This record gives sequence, C-alpha cells and structure tokens, in this order.
Amino acid sequence: MAFRNNTPILGLLSLPLPLLLFIVTTTRQHATISVAAVATTPTTVVTTDVHLDVIRKPVPDVPVFREAPEFRNGDTCNKDRIHISMTLDSNYLRGTMAAVLSILQHSECPENVEFHFLWSRYEPQVFFSIKSTFPYLKFKIYRFEANRVRGKISKSIRQALDQPLNYARIYLSDILPGYVQRVIYLDSDIVVVDDIAKLWEVDLEGKVLAAPEYCHANFTEYFTDLFWSDPVLSKTFEGRKPCYFNTGVMVMDVELWREGKFTQKVEDWMAVQKQKRIYHLGSLPPFLLVLAGELKSVDHRWNQHGLGGDNLEGKCRSLHPGPISLLHWSGKGKPWLRLDSRKPCAVDHLWAPYDLYHANIHHFEE
Ligand SMILES: *[C@@H]1O[C@H](CO)[C@@H](O)[C@H](O)[C@H]1NC(C)=O
Repeated sequence: MAFRNNTPILGLLSLPLPLLLFIVTTTRQHATISVAAVATTPTTVVTTDVHLDVIRKPVPDVPVFREAPEFRNGDTCNKDRIHISMTLDSNYLRGTMAAVLSILQHSECPENVEFHFLWSRYEPQVFFSIKSTFPYLKFKIYRFEANRVRGKISKSIRQALDQPLNYARIYLSDILPGYVQRVIYLDSDIVVVDDIAKLWEVDLEGKVLAAPEYCHANFTEYFTDLFWSDPVLSKTFEGRKPCYFNTGVMVMDVELWREGKFTQKVEDWMAVQKQKRIYHLGSLPPFLLVLAGELKSVDHRWNQHGLGGDNLEGKCRSLHPGPISLLHWSGKGKPWLRLDSRKPCAVDHLWAPYDLYHANIHHFEE
C-alpha cells in the first residue's frame, strides 16, 4: 500500500526538479540552491525565465514570515520527545506558524518538541517557509494521500470542512513512523498559551484518545432526525455516556488506535453517511460516533473552542470563564482574516502576538 511507504521530506533532494524551479520565485535566500539544481537541466530558457521571476515578481499568494527566535531547553529538561501533528495547507500557513510559535514560546523544553506535518500536495514554498521561519525546528513532513479519503467525503454545511486534509487525522496511525507511539493532534487555528508538556503527560488510562469533553452541549443536534429515528442507528450510543468533543485538540495513543482498527471504524461511519445523511458536519461526527463516551476527559482549559464563531456566519464570540491553556478559532472566522479585514473580534487580539506574517517585506530587492 502506497500509504505505508511514506517517506518524510527531510531535505531538498527529495523534491522533484520542476518544484525546485518554483522555489526560486519565493525567497531570494534559496535562489542559489535552486539555481544549482537548474544547472542540471539542459534548457537554458527555463533558467532565464526563472531568473526574471526572481527579480520582477514574487509569487503573490505565498506569505512571507519573520524568522522566529531560537528556543532553548531549560536546565531541568530530559530528552523525552513530545510529538505534535498538524496539517500543512498554504491557506492556513499563517495559522500553523502562529501555533508553532506559541507552543515553543510557552514550552519549558521546546527542543523536545517534534512536529509531524501532513500535507496532501507537495508545496516546496511551504516547506521553505517553515525552514526559514523556524531554522531550529525539529519537524518532518509526510504526504497524506488525499485519494484515500476523497470518495468517502460527503458534503457538509461548510465547504472548508470537506477538504480531504481535514480527514488526515483519521490516518495518523498509518502515516506516522513507528517511534511515534503517542501524538498530540492540533488544528492550525489554535494558539497554545501554556506548556504543551502538561497536555502530553495526560494519563490515558487505557483509552485511545484524550480530549476535553463538553457534556452540556446538546449532543442530539450533531445528528439528523433520520439518525435518531432509525431503530438500529439510534442505538449506537447505548451503554455509553456520549458527550461532544472537538477533534481539533486530541492526544492519541497511536498504537492502540492501530490495534483497535479505529481508522476503519471511522471510515465505516463515513460510508453510512454516504448512503443516508446522518449528520451535518464533516470529519467530527464520525469521530463522535466511534469515540464519544469512550475517551479520557481532559480539562476544558485545553480547548477554548468556537472562537471563530459558528459555521455559517463566523460571528464574534467572547471567552468562556475559567483558566485557558489553548485558544481555538474553530468555526468560520479565522483571526488572521478578521485582523486583515480590520474588523477583528476582541478575541483575535489574543492571536495577534503570535502572528509571524510580514505583509510588506521586499525580499527580492538588494
Ligand atoms: C436537544 O436538541 C433536540 C433537537 O434539536 C431537541 O429536541 C431537544 O429538546 C434538545 N434537548 C435539550 C436538553 O435542550
């Protein structure tokens, strides 16, 4: 299976040459690297075109980020790794960068944190963006085979939820290398304002997943009338105390997930959804169907979610009371877009300090 042969992109050499040519148009710093590669191509015309690109027009949709400082371990740190997985998508890159910065900045042992990024398309400019923004970051990038899930996705109420990459979290146990036995999965629209090690160290007590649970939320509403009126389907949660949880922040026992064939279980529910509409949202409800009431509950401080407002309008929300370790702009509104539009919500100002985006850098001038 192609999926198992995932080779992490560890360096430039693993990128195909046509992509290298593209890099030249992103940052001046890497132009030399690419030119060396270009020299191996026989077509001088290509090299000339690229050269003109470097001077005249930077690629418009590639954000340019400031370099983050180097974060060092404190004296008391051991060598234990903390594995964090996130998806990589050029549309959410600004969010990812802010999330990474926030994690490192609040971490007592930042050098112990290793990132495992999943992407569905090779985007070399994204790779170099991370490399140049966080020169000291321990990270690997894996290809998520979008075709594996594409045919299984049903239309939800928000198009952004239907992106294959949104479903990558279901396949972590197939994608991550064997030495990653536990992983924290995080969405790209979060910032962490506490030491991530505290979440990492949660005792899973034999459960496959840990996440904050929200038992006051009306669980009924996540599924359709069709689901609840079906005599078989409506028994799904019998013998459990199902509560809503958000899949944007989860601690996963990767081995248990693999052994328990949870990927298959989630996929099975997606297949049911294809046949009859049993829920409204995207990748979240099949997780609820399999795992609601079966996970280890984590303090709510680890997912102050919904800051992006609802799924339709993205209205402003205020913070829920209580201590906060992680802020999550789930919902339609994203802080970087609202800040750019000059109509930010109050909570967006909590995201802004982690924004590494440099709107007006002139990278191509001498
Ligand atoms: C939960 O939502 C369902 C469907 O909208 C509704 O019928 C039910 O009364 C709600 N329950 C509570 C406790 O609010």
